[in-house]
Amino acid sequence: MELESRLSRRVKRIKISATKEMPMIAAAVGGCVSLGQGIPSFKTPEHVVDAVARALRDDPGAGKYSLQPGMPELRRAVAELLAAEKGLRADPEREVAITVGGMEALLCAMLTLVGPGDEVIVPEPFYPSHVEQILMAEGTPVFAPLRRADWSLDPDAVEAAVTPRTKAIVISHPHNPTGAVWAERDLRRVAELAIRNKVFVICDDTYDALAYDGASAFSLASLPELRHLLVGVFSFSKRFALTGWRVGFAWAREPLLNQMLKIHDAAAICAPTPAQIAALASLTGPQDTYAAMRAQLEQRRDLICSRLSAMPGMAHVRPGGAFYVMARPGLPQGAVADSRELAIRLIREARVITIPGGAFGPGGEGHVRLSFGGDEAEINEACDRLSAWSAGL
Ligand SMILES: Cc1ncc(COP(=O)(O)O)c(C=O)c1O
Repeated sequence: MELESRLSRRVKRIKISATKEMPMIAAAVGGCVSLGQGIPSFKTPEHVVDAVARALRDDPGAGKYSLQPGMPELRRAVAELLAAEKGLRADPEREVAITVGGMEALLCAMLTLVGPGDEVIVPEPFYPSHVEQILMAEGTPVFAPLRRADWSLDPDAVEAAVTPRTKAIVISHPHNPTGAVWAERDLRRVAELAIRNKVFVICDDTYDALAYDGASAFSLASLPELRHLLVGVFSFSKRFALTGWRVGFAWAREPLLNQMLKIHDAAAICAPTPAQIAALASLTGPQDTYAAMRAQLEQRRDLICSRLSAMPGMAHVRPGGAFYVMARPGLPQGAVADSRELAIRLIREARVITIPGGAFGPGGEGHVRLSFGGDEAEINEACDRLSAWSAGL
């Protein structure tokens, strides 16, 4: 039986992201150090491990489904976080849903708001899963290029992308893949044009707590005038180092959240209960653990930037947040055709995993995305290998 003709149009339109593909290629090569996937190196903090172990031992409910929108005490804790950090007074009963990572919250938003013929504006370079999810919803992604000199948000480019078919704008801030922290005035202009054109804003705050140099990242979720058009997406993965636990949450006004919960129910039923217990322990436990993690990530940002600066021809813009930097290796004329080929060469010849910049859109072409989520030894080893490789070209 020929499979291709029997597959859905939906699945034929999407692909597995290069972020997942490169580690698979590297696994076959062996001996690679990773600057690839965005995984903070920190292990699950002790107080979180203890809370989950205790709950699994003592609470018969800990291994069972939770309420479909999430454990009430976690929704209350999340509402307190939103009020404290973004001035967003969330009703934990009606406006908050705990999801399987921020990813499932994004998918619920996309499948709820977007259908065939709808356009969704994505600043570009983009986080590839945003685009795959738009395609999965059978919508059309429309790119709004970031300013190439510093990867800043260009509200004029976003405005120029608006058409009568625009349904939503997706904002990831601090930004993956560039690590850019954008000016509040540019983000406010995007909010204004969303309100003027009545388009939704899917505000992906996955990296909201990871801004450096004493700055804090402005969140569109903090604007009361935007709330009727807002879906806020938040994650425990990065700031609380819980990538593998798969827990995040969404905020939307009750009528919209109720629609998103239909997708959540059909896709996941609920977020894993042990992961929700871990998330609750992260929010209610000692916060100095997380401040220390952020400080370490900032040091790693400094380290990788100084190492890249010492490599001849490795152009990059110093990131102000998240844990990514886009680097543009200056290669001899005709050395590589595209960033995918470059990333595969780096795996085979330098034994370093990077993500091809072209996977993040045309503006990323010629670059590789480097993650500095790994520890200092890993970053140094990878940079030693990159230096030796580029010296041998
Ligand atoms: C911009 C962005 N949004 C969402 C996610 C998904 O995160 P989660 O682990 O919470 O599903 C990621 C993960 O890397 C991300 O970079």
